[in-house]
Amino acid sequence: MNLLETVEQDTMPARYKSMTQTEMIARVTEIKAQLGDNLFIPCHHYQKDEVVPFADAIGDSLQLAQIAAKNKKAKHIVFCGVHFMAETADMLTTNEQIVTLPDMRAGCSMADMADIHQLTNAWPKLQTLFGDTILPVTYINSTAAIKSFVGEHGGTTVTSSNATKIVSWALEQKERIFFLPDQHLGRNTAFELGIPLEHMAIWNPIKNELEYDGNLADCKVILWKGYCSVHQHFTVKNIENIRKNHPNMRIIVHPECTHEVVSLADDSGSTKKIVTEISNAAPGTEWAVGTEANLVGRIIQENPDKKIVSLNPFMCPCMTMNRIDLPHLLWTLEAIQNGEQRNQIKVDEQTTTFALKALERMLQLS
Ligand code: 13P
Ligand code: SF4
Repeated sequence: MNLLETVEQDTMPARYKSMTQTEMIARVTEIKAQLGDNLFIPCHHYQKDEVVPFADAIGDSLQLAQIAAKNKKAKHIVFCGVHFMAETADMLTTNEQIVTLPDMRAGCSMADMADIHQLTNAWPKLQTLFGDTILPVTYINSTAAIKSFVGEHGGTTVTSSNATKIVSWALEQKERIFFLPDQHLGRNTAFELGIPLEHMAIWNPIKNELEYDGNLADCKVILWKGYCSVHQHFTVKNIENIRKNHPNMRIIVHPECTHEVVSLADDSGSTKKIVTEISNAAPGTEWAVGTEANLVGRIIQENPDKKIVSLNPFMCPCMTMNRIDLPHLLWTLEAIQNGEQRNQIKVDEQTTTFALKALERMLQLS
């Protein structure tokens, strides 16, 4: 499907725009009840508040992958998250199950920073430089095609909640790893495992070249030059402001933030870790949170006994996660109810075969 067709397919019928919130909530509730166990709605922590109440499961990327792998019952999986998550769910579920993304424009700018053609151009160059010493490892925030390449070459996927464990395993398999597409998660994880920054190189996919000043033999980690456009908005200056104005605040950030920010924070971890750590903290504690704005807003609502702020007061939500709203959810559910198929996410068989190797390796190691 080309871009124009995608956009046309997503032109919402006018009637959804004229419905009130109350009418939409009533319809979604009614259809959910009618479809029963035939419908499953997994929802990522970054989803909008108007969608979250309809989730059958809410979680971080690892939890959502594990949940998708377990659910063999629901014929329809309506994924409230972004495209790579729906692809992952499709690959981990049976051929009879149908995964739908309520709005096809819900992509991930970080996943889009690693294109399979860039990777197939990079790989032979890296083999020439380093020989057969590299294990590819990809963050789950990547396309199915990237996961497939990684799986075919003996590598694995990781998420922010299992990265330390999996990267540690990867470094036991080969002399060095090639970490895609998030340089920050890769750098933060490798550093935590004791690898100095001087032993990490950058792969520039636009120039198709390695950026590294050191001796090639010392290079243990090659980081794809990708990043999350949401988490790059948390800065050292934000941390300094919190330390100055709220000296009792603990700062917790997502590892997609830069190494400087993660190093200066008190703690870092996946969305699940952030949610759990704050909800388990003592009443009266103070927190500055460096992650996506919808989630920070929800943590604030769910913890009225604590003082919680966003690390960056001018933070915006992830705009692609935000594409999934109540009208799109309702439109999708009504299509299912009418026996129509819109926005199915289907990964082809060959891609799935190898991508599953990478995903299953991760699930076994987690
Ligand atoms: P986690 O929920 O795994 O921490 O991932 C965050 C994220 O950026 C998802 O796109
Ligand atoms: Fe992608 Fe960042 Fe949005 Fe997560 S928060 S979906 S990594 S752009």
